[in-house]
Amino acid sequence: MKILNFGSFCIDHVYRVPHFVRPAETLPSLSYTVFAGGKGFNQSLAIARAGGTVAHAGSVGEGGEWLVQRLETAGVDVSRVVKSAKPTGHAVIQLNPSGENAIVLFAGANRSITREQIDLGLTDFGAGDLLLLQNEISEPAYLVQLALGKGMRVVMNPAPMDPVAQSLPLEQLSMIIVNEVEAFDLTGETSPELILDRLAQRMPQGDVVLTLGSQGAMWRSATHRLHIPAINVDVVDTTGAGDTFTGYLIASLAAGLPPDAAMGRAVVAAGLSVTQAGAADSIPDAATVDRVLAGSAV
Ligand code: ATP
Ligand code: RIB
Repeated sequence: MKILNFGSFCIDHVYRVPHFVRPAETLPSLSYTVFAGGKGFNQSLAIARAGGTVAHAGSVGEGGEWLVQRLETAGVDVSRVVKSAKPTGHAVIQLNPSGENAIVLFAGANRSITREQIDLGLTDFGAGDLLLLQNEISEPAYLVQLALGKGMRVVMNPAPMDPVAQSLPLEQLSMIIVNEVEAFDLTGETSPELILDRLAQRMPQGDVVLTLGSQGAMWRSATHRLHIPAINVDVVDTTGAGDTFTGYLIASLAAGLPPDAAMGRAVVAAGLSVTQAGAADSIPDAATVDRVLAGSAV
């Protein structure tokens, strides 16, 4: 099974702030750092750091080449990344003292991806292969339909949530990975058990994964019900925790781990990621994750 992640690249401009800026307020930042990011980029890097093999398709503009090189250096196949006349996507991220973020996203090249580029990107993939996608690129509905038509398994992380992501055919997906905010938008529910019930009803053949921040993560499928608690850590920056989780989960399942072991690995990796600054920069390598896992009760 080959894995294709069709996803975004972003340059993250991160400002540490005493509190999130209020309407009409001008707020001096405590620091400013530029990081690599974008949900697609982060998830491909997480798959690679977890020891998995992934091809990444997407688009960058002028000045985004370093992001592509970063993926290539990590062992990701970047031959399906195209250059756009639009600027590289970027994010303006406020980071508060609790490690929480508030993000303004400029899609740029990420939303300049055309159906023709999607056709080309999927050329070498077919039945049994896996498409991973988030909701930061253009034409996600077309991408999903094309992949399903080829017999690919589709894993969706519908983040950030919007009406397009809400209208995707959940019942045809192999897996959905959502946090509580996305889950509420899809189901109207806030209780984890009710969220899982509603999503499982819509995806009777699929796997539903719900991340719960410091409460860990849950999995529901026809055969499994799991709740893996989070590890106890000092939080520095939660940006990219969900991406680290998703990349580790997909790589671990692709390596043949059963759901409980794959979820345990993803929860530990994501927990470690929140102890470091940056989205992509905070993704731990497999040796670190497996060492912590071996010494923990997870
Ligand atoms: P983000 O948008 O910040 O990347 P998310 O909202 O998509 O993250 P979360 O549910 O917040 O996703 O976190 C994903 C996973 O990261 C959790 O399931 C958990 O394993 C880990 N995690 C997040 N926050 C913490 C924390 N405070 N302590 C330990 N682990 C955490
Ligand atoms: O999930 C974290 C990512 O979301 C950041 O890297 C930022 O680029 C935004 O896309």
